[in-house]
Amino acid sequence: MTTSSSERGVSLGMPALPAPAYPDEVRARLEADAREVIARYPDSRSALLPLLHLVQSEEGHVTRTGMQFCADMLDLTTAEVTAVATFYTMYRRKPSGDYQVGVCTNTLCAVMGGDAIFETLQEHLGVGNGETTDDGTITLEHIECNAACDFAPVVMVNWEFFDNQTPGSAKRLVDDLRAGRPVEPTRGARLCTFKETARILAGFPDERPGAVEESGSAGPASLVGLRLARGEAAPARVVHPRDGGPQDEPQDRVHEPSPAEHLSSHDAPQETSASDPSHPAGPTAEEGE
Ligand code: FES
Repeated sequence: MTTSSSERGVSLGMPALPAPAYPDEVRARLEADAREVIARYPDSRSALLPLLHLVQSEEGHVTRTGMQFCADMLDLTTAEVTAVATFYTMYRRKPSGDYQVGVCTNTLCAVMGGDAIFETLQEHLGVGNGETTDDGTITLEHIECNAACDFAPVVMVNWEFFDNQTPGSAKRLVDDLRAGRPVEPTRGARLCTFKETARILAGFPDERPGAVEESGSAGPASLVGLRLARGEAAPARVVHPRDGGPQDEPQDRVHEPSPAEHLSSHDAPQETSASDPSHPAGPTAEEGE
């Protein structure tokens, strides 16, 4: 273990972070894990991000104790660690649920139903953004685009994808999670708890049976352009959630295009300025063009 600046008697002008110590057994275990992670990097400070995931895997969020631990292990100030831990949204700063349910409300998902899903879940669960249900199961939050726009609207649970969701399917999803019923992401590996996910993100092996094989590759909607470029026929419809697709009650439906309408859930032709005779779209001159 490296010694911290304060241990070496060097004052960097920052007060020590008040934090209770880990129990000896926990500290010893985390130190062994941290040394394994740090050894992967030529410069120890590069291990800060995985170490924050490591301490998050211990307590479910990044505590002051966890930040002090990272500072000690990496010879950083607690201010440096805090700056990183508070910058990235994947690090949680307060106790949270076993399942982080993130609803993408970026532009495409929002207009495809993400906003409606988020509002529905807020009402259904009785929690607001960043809040956790009383049973400690679900933490609900807005999330930014997860580069899965071709499956919009997208919900993520502990960073696994649930594609083409609707308010009704999202309600069933959180009900199943709260009841302890098995749920299956649309693609990617099987679901595990937030703490288990954090340990995987810290760089430790994913030991769930078949998880690596299930991580898979791009989904069919993402590959339509490639298939067309290769001269292959595009499928009539490429939205294939594992459960066969949204099956909501009519009042829950936000938009349910027929297979004849769309290839995907959101590729209907749109009105653009080019189709407006009074506002023709011409080439845009760029500097140096
Ligand atoms: S806007 Fe939701 S995944 Fe991109």
